[in-house]
Amino acid sequence: MSTVLIEIRRAKTRDAAAVAECHDEAWRTAYQGIIPGTELEKLIVRRGPAWWESAIRKGSRVALLQFEDKIAGYANYGRNRARSLYYDGEIYELYLRPEFQGLGFGRRLFTAARRDLAHSALKSLIVWALSENDNAVEFYRALGGKAVARSSEKFGTRVLDKVAFGWQS
Ligand SMILES: CC(C)(COP(=O)(O)OP(=O)(O)OC[C@H]1O[C@@H](n2cnc3c(N)ncnc32)[C@H](O)[C@@H]1OP(=O)(O)O)[C@@H](O)C(=O)NCCC(=O)NCCS
Repeated sequence: MSTVLIEIRRAKTRDAAAVAECHDEAWRTAYQGIIPGTELEKLIVRRGPAWWESAIRKGSRVALLQFEDKIAGYANYGRNRARSLYYDGEIYELYLRPEFQGLGFGRRLFTAARRDLAHSALKSLIVWALSENDNAVEFYRALGGKAVARSSEKFGTRVLDKVAFGWQS
């Protein structure tokens, strides 16, 4: 019998290239057909290894889902950025590589990020998702999130609606 090592841990600067690769793959799949191609490409290129290295070095909280020696997903999180919404913390991004989706890992990563935020007194939580990202919307609903706000974001010439899900402490 063999044991598979799966762990959730904080990212270190030496993980930057692997996180960038995971981000690239996850975003390309999640947003194809939603965000216009050229804009999506720009967003991905901007988030290369140097961007991640700098973010991790400056103390951004990035949790990684590691499956054996592969980075299968990541979540980054911190204080809620929308001052008009009375929530303490925010998960800015939560992404899994396609082959690791639908296996319960998203829930595990979400729970780990939420727990880490609560440890630093950020107990209530918000997450934004593009309304057209059905998988994300259904996922946050399944995790008990309530739609609490709506907004929109421009990607090139396309304006996309987004929805905020909230969890009280
Ligand atoms: C969205 C995402 C993080 C969810 O992670 P996941 O590992 O696939 O989801 P899980 O297997 O942990 O599912 C957790 C729960 O959500 C439900 N769920 C997940 N996706 C769903 C969907 N598309 N439709 C309905 N329910 C869904 C599951 O049934 C499960 O419910 P249960 O625990 O009550 O059985 C992952 O699919 C992903 O990375 N997608 C692409 C990137 C993305 O869209 N990220 C979010 C950006 S805001």
